[in-house]
Amino acid sequence: MKTWFSAYAALCLTVLPALAQDAAVGEAAFTQCRACHAIVADDGTVIVEGGRTGPNLFGLLGRAVGSREGFAYGDALRSVGEAGIVWDEAELVAYIANPGEWLRAKTGDARARSRMGYRMTEGAADMAAYLAGLK
Ligand code: HEC
Repeated sequence: MKTWFSAYAALCLTVLPALAQDAAVGEAAFTQCRACHAIVADDGTVIVEGGRTGPNLFGLLGRAVGSREGFAYGDALRSVGEAGIVWDEAELVAYIANPGEWLRAKTGDARARSRMGYRMTEGAADMAAYLAGLK
């Protein structure tokens, strides 16, 4: 796995520098997220061990925003999902880069606050590609 990853990373660095999104880069960057997020498949298989401050991030694509059962989301995020917004890759990129700003744009409420206290200032598109592939 490690060898495969290094070989793949090397290939990307030499051959694919212009590609905007790279799920393998996102996967490697998940170290930024695991203090608060685990990734656990629907059958209980643990893909990435992580903290519980944030929800399990498996299977987001096509799922309503803020809808993981058993997690206590903030009101703002839950309301976006209740309004019918589902996660797609573009929404994930924008959210991960700045959850607070994304929430304020989606709700139209300048005082909406995110419970996620983290912004991924670089590599959000790679991360979204990685998360979108977890299904
Ligand atoms: C300090 C803890 C913390 C860190 C670090 C963190 N998150 Fe979060 N995340 C949260 C919390 C808390 C929520 C729930 C937000 C709310 O309810 O407003 C959340 C929600 C999310 C959601 C929405 C999930 C859903 O079910 O709708 C996504 C996507 C997400 N985080 C991705 C990430 C990614 C990717 C990273 C790493 C770049 C990351 N988070 C880092 C705490 C964190």
